[in-house]
Amino acid sequence: MLLEVDHVSKAFGGVRAVADCSFAVQEGTITALIGPNGAGKTTAFNLISGILTPDSGRIKFAGNDITGLRPHKIARLGVGRTFQITRELGDLTVLENMVVGTARGTFRELLGRRVLAREEQQAMELLDFVGIARLADQKAKTLSYGQRKLLEFASVLMSRPRLVLLDEPAGGVNPALLDRIVDRIRTLNQTGITFLIVEHNMDMVMNLSDEVVVMAHGEVITQGPPTRIRSDDRVLDAYLGRV
Ligand SMILES: Nc1ncnc2c1ncn2[C@@H]1O[C@H](COP(=O)(O)OP(=O)(O)O)[C@@H](O)[C@H]1O
Ligand SMILES: [Mg+2]
Repeated sequence: MLLEVDHVSKAFGGVRAVADCSFAVQEGTITALIGPNGAGKTTAFNLISGILTPDSGRIKFAGNDITGLRPHKIARLGVGRTFQITRELGDLTVLENMVVGTARGTFRELLGRRVLAREEQQAMELLDFVGIARLADQKAKTLSYGQRKLLEFASVLMSRPRLVLLDEPAGGVNPALLDRIVDRIRTLNQTGITFLIVEHNMDMVMNLSDEVVVMAHGEVITQGPPTRIRSDDRVLDAYLGRV
């Protein structure tokens, strides 16, 4: 298993956002993480990527115990996750947004211009891959919602991750862009990149994923291939609030 989440819990005050949650992601798969709003999916992502530290339980990635490691360490081990384009980043160009994540601070100063040029080339290739290379010199804040999603998607690939965590990549995106995102995820998956995707679009989940993990109330209630999950009463119950 590439990723193992083992009896992980995280509470905020009295709210058990993630409660004794266990699941695993096999290398080379596209795994969907689904569940009703408030199920704990985003919190699970934050725990995996190190933005939050679990109260208990362990998380392993590629055989390493990554529990409690800082986000940049976890990223360096090969876990990529999208970050939102904040107001600050909105004033940077699309290309600068691509480079800022990997070449921050001392690293950038130490390694200097040659690395930066190489990174910019990689950034342009990735922007081209997601279809927004023509926007490279525009300020990120001028992008449409869908274009922003594509930028977030491209930027997570800059660190050449082995596992990519995507939180609602299709949310609010028009059907044409959605098709493009799905196609790019498939293409990358064929090169060996593993995906863990939180998504509400059930057609997309059922079409794209090899495995589906269903969360409700912070727990994993079931896990299996899409065909089985689709006909699992517990999943319907969870969405209808019956569990
Ligand atoms: N930073 C936080 N502080 C307090 N409560 C939080 C925080 N983050 C999430 N929660 C709560 O934890 C639960 C799970 O949230 P979340 O992980 O965002 O669910 P999902 O992504 O599945 O919709 C919700 O009840 C939410 O209100
Ligand atoms: Mg969420």
